[in-house]
Formats: sequence, structure tokens, C-alpha cells
Amino acid sequence: MKKTVEDFIKQAERYGAKNYAPLPVVLTKGDGIYLYDINGKKYFDMLSAYSAVNQGHNNKKLIKAAIKQLKRLYLTSRAFHNDKMGDFLQKIAEITGYEKVIPMNTGAEGVETAIKIMRKYAYEKKGIKKDCGEIIVAENNFHGRTTTIVGFSTDKTTKEGFGPYTPGFKIIKYNDIGELEKAINENTIGYLVEPIQGEAGVIIPDDDYFRKVREICDKYGILLAFDEIQTGLGRTGKLFCFQHYGIKPDILILGKALSGGLYPISCVATSAEIMNVLTPGTHGSTFGGNPLASAIGIASLEYIIKNKLPENAEKLGKYFIEKLKKEIMDDDIKEIRGKGLLIAVEMKKPVARKVCIELMRVGILAKDTHEKTIRFAPPLIIKKKQIDKAVMKIKKGFENFRKCSCT
Ligand SMILES: Cc1ncc(COP(=O)(O)O)c(C=O)c1O
Repeated sequence: MKKTVEDFIKQAERYGAKNYAPLPVVLTKGDGIYLYDINGKKYFDMLSAYSAVNQGHNNKKLIKAAIKQLKRLYLTSRAFHNDKMGDFLQKIAEITGYEKVIPMNTGAEGVETAIKIMRKYAYEKKGIKKDCGEIIVAENNFHGRTTTIVGFSTDKTTKEGFGPYTPGFKIIKYNDIGELEKAINENTIGYLVEPIQGEAGVIIPDDDYFRKVREICDKYGILLAFDEIQTGLGRTGKLFCFQHYGIKPDILILGKALSGGLYPISCVATSAEIMNVLTPGTHGSTFGGNPLASAIGIASLEYIIKNKLPENAEKLGKYFIEKLKKEIMDDDIKEIRGKGLLIAVEMKKPVARKVCIELMRVGILAKDTHEKTIRFAPPLIIKKKQIDKAVMKIKKGFENFRKCSCT
């Protein structure tokens, strides 16, 4: 007998940890900006696996690169050199403008790696008293799920129950320049921050916030580390979000779309002076920089650049926002905002999940974040006509939501 949606969900719930609350849809196929469920129903993907699938689902170029490499060599560990990693690291260095790159796997690992580099650099090169360093982070941050990272989260669900927490982090308000300067003392190592807070609900700081942040970091000689795991690689309408602000962080963390979603790949890029604090044995990963990841990473980056995905995100992001404002804006919506194709609709009441269910019913897969916000972040290959169609469906979804919330 054919398994039903309920069968799949029950099975996952029976054998899996309940650490997610997915929408009740079971997907089986992807193609470009579309996803298909087990009954053949087609959906617009408006999440892109939290911005990992910027290059679109079932991307032929990426699959070809992966298969070619799979048939040759997929893992050596870093005990030996492989003939792919160098090309991958060089490519990242060239497009980011940093001298050195360390490859890892998940985003959280990338962030952990940056934290280790920042600490070691501060103790060895900046004369900060050993084991006393402080890294400043922002309220409502999201940097991943490891024990160290959740320890400096300000979200109760993310943090509570996982202590004792790693010391050495100081939390300040996001987008408040006075708070940053006040928080700095002789033990400050640097500021680790998202250039737009994605998981917090697409929170975009003032245009000049990060220019001022850069000035303060330079004034006090502290490091600025950008977590661009979600915002990087074209999502916000530039290859990197820092380019919007006319500054460059000292440390850049990438993940997600670095692989186009085919494989977990992350990295940290920085100067030679900073990266050189890592010496043999101080950090590593069995899978980081493996030949398969490297081949996929190279193809992913080439695809983003060749197909001008940042430019598309810039142009169509503005179009998408305008269309949403025109078609769905009403009294129950607080704001529609975004940068590039990282777009949020913030409701006045905590109804985002209900809206997402109605959107799913009309063929739009979007995800609620923090109860009031719905994020729209399609693959960056989306075309204008597809946005037109998607917005009509979104409009229908909102109409249905409004109808059922009145009754
Ligand atoms: C800004 C940011 N940092 C870190 C992470 C964690 O990445 P991963 O889930 O690959 O560990 C995420 C994931 O959503 C993210 O958005």
C-alpha cells in the first residue's frame, strides 16, 4: 500500500526527535524554484532550505560536478593533500578578497571556527590576558546550535536547558552603536554579528550602522566578524551583504549556498595574519575540505557568478517587495521589508504559522519565524513571471487566512 502523508509524518515522529515543527507536507522532488510532494502537488519554494538552495533545486551543473568527483575520490581526510581543495580555497579567496580560507562543514562549525580563531589571535597577537577574552554578540542573534553558540543566544527556546554556558560573550542591542562602544573593555576580542538578522525575522540595521561599527572596531583595535551564512552568496542582492555597507569585516563566515544545498559546506575567510594563528593540531575536521565538497563548492560559486544571481536578487527582490505591498498589504500586516530576495512579512499578531499553513494549501512553501514573521526567500534563479504567479498565490493564501480568521 502506498504510504500517505500521515504515514510519513507519523513515522518521522515515532522514530525521530521532535526538535522541529515542520509544516505538514512531505516532499519528494525538486526542480529549479519548485518542490513536489508525494502526491505530485507542485509548490513554489519560498524558503530555499534557509537560503542554502540559492542555485535552485536539482541544479544540473552542480549535480554533474558532484557525480564527476564522486566517481574519482570523495574523502581523504586532511591527513593527506587532495587535488581539489586548493582550487576551492583559491576560488573563495579570489571572490571574497581575503587571503586565507579554512573549510568546514556546517554553519555552526564555521562560527565555532571563527570564535576559536578570534580568541587565539587576541591572546597571541593582541596581548589580551589568556582565557579572559570577550566576544561581543547581538541580541536576537542566530549563529547555530552548538553548546557554545546557544549559550549566547537570547532566545529562550534555543538556550534554556543546555547550560552550563561557555563564558566569554557579551550581548548588546543590535543596531545600537552606543551599546557597542559601551561594551568594549581591555578584554574585548571583537564583535561577531549577522549583517542582517535572518532568523530573528529579517532585521535590517540602519544604513550607516555597520560603517560606524567598522570605525569603532578600528578605533579600539578589535575584530569584526560577519556571519554571512544566510546573507552571503547573492541572497541580499550583492555577492556579500557587507558590500551594501561599504565596509569589509576582518573575518567572514560562509555556509549554506556555498554548496547550493548539495552537501554541508562552510568556511571562514580572513587575512593571513589572523588565520596563521591556527597551526597543525589546533583545529580540524575529518570532512572539511574534502574533494567532493571542494568540487561542489567550486561549481556552486561558478554558478552564482556566471548566472549573475546577486544581480537577479537585487532587481527581483525590489520587484517582489513592491508587488507584495500592492497585493497583500492590509491592516493585519505591520511591515513588508527585505533586501534582495531575503524578504519578510511581519504580522501584527502571532499568526505567522497559520498564514504559512494557508500558503502551503495554495502551493507556496514559506516558513514562519518568531510567531509574527513570514520569510520569503526563493532560489535566486527565480524569474519575474514566476514572481507574478507566486504573488497571486500568496494573495490567495492571505485571503484564505483572513477569511478563516474572521469566522
Ligand atoms: C546566520 C546563521 N548562522 C549560522 C547558522 C547555522 O548553520 P547550520 O544550520 O548549517 O549549522 C544559520 C542557519 O540558519 C544562520 O542563518
